Amino acid sequence: MIEGTEGLFARTEEFPNSLAQARLAALVGLDDLIDRLAADAVALLDPTTIHAWSKAVHGKVIPAVSALEDRTPLFVFAGDVGVGKTEVAEVVGQVIATRADTDVTLYPLSLTARGRGAVGEMTTLLTRAFERISADFTRARRGDGIASSLGVLLIDEADALAQSRELAQMHHEDRAGVNALLRGIDGMRTDRLPVLTILCTNRLDALDPAVQRRAAAIEVFERPTLLQRVALLTRLLAGTKLSPADIHALASATGEATDRLYGYTYSDLRQRLVPEIVLAAYRQGVAVDSVIAHEVLLRTPPTRPFGVTAR
Ligand SMILES: Nc1ncnc2c1ncn2[C@@H]1O[C@H](COP(=O)(O)OP(=O)(O)OP(=O)(O)O)[C@@H](O)[C@H]1O
Ligand SMILES: [Mg+2]
Repeated sequence: MIEGTEGLFARTEEFPNSLAQARLAALVGLDDLIDRLAADAVALLDPTTIHAWSKAVHGKVIPAVSALEDRTPLFVFAGDVGVGKTEVAEVVGQVIATRADTDVTLYPLSLTARGRGAVGEMTTLLTRAFERISADFTRARRGDGIASSLGVLLIDEADALAQSRELAQMHHEDRAGVNALLRGIDGMRTDRLPVLTILCTNRLDALDPAVQRRAAAIEVFERPTLLQRVALLTRLLAGTKLSPADIHALASATGEATDRLYGYTYSDLRQRLVPEIVLAAYRQGVAVDSVIAHEVLLRTPPTRPFGVTAR
């Protein structure tokens, strides 16, 4: 271990593991996205899979494949609060591990938790994170190009860091943070380290163009649609007295409304509304039913979208 890196990451996690499989199974409406991201990640991290495909369909490794190999294994997850960015970033390693049939290690780095106290600490933090990962993965690529293990570096809550260097008011230490990030991901690409970087931000518009340009994928996460809310509430409220029609009504009521241009987020439903419904029924000593659900709904409004202020 590199000196001074103890406690650098919140906690590293090895995939596959059963907890991650359960978290993955609990997600609604994101199967296609997660599959696509995992397939892309494997193609970016393990060139042998692309080589095998090219030989099978073109009879040889076509030159276009090397253009793909030059891409930076960087995904940007953007979007509103509570829409699944962190959750997907934390469990996609499970799908990558299964697809590539390799161990995957997640290195989660939260910049809000760690780097905001002292400006400038963020730069040091990032530099040390990349050093630690380089040390762990330098020997992960075998002579034949096959990676014996893969890594996922999650840079969560990256708003402050990713702020465009063009913004005049940006503190010079924040610029240094962006530069440290670019140096780190470029260095990993040059050294062909089998490490995927995922950067999560609420503010895609403020993301530095140099970071955006490098991203192999930029995914904008959205609040759940009516169908997704129905699916989530059906799971969460299974075994209660709510009928399918009741759940549909509740899902409709958690959508956009005439006096509100936004619906409930995944976390509004899962971490606020449903737990509040359970508590209300528990306090009254009665079963969870539609009446209680709608009572609670009235006093549990959705989170305002990021950047929208109250009037
Ligand atoms: N598609 C989904 N299906 C079911 N639950 C979801 C889904 N997306 C998110 N959730 C749940 O919503 C909660 C918030 O998700 P998450 O932490 O990933 O949000 P986020 O997009 O990172 O938000 P923030 O910008 O505030 O960090 C978690 O409990 C997560 O499990
Ligand atoms: Mg998050």
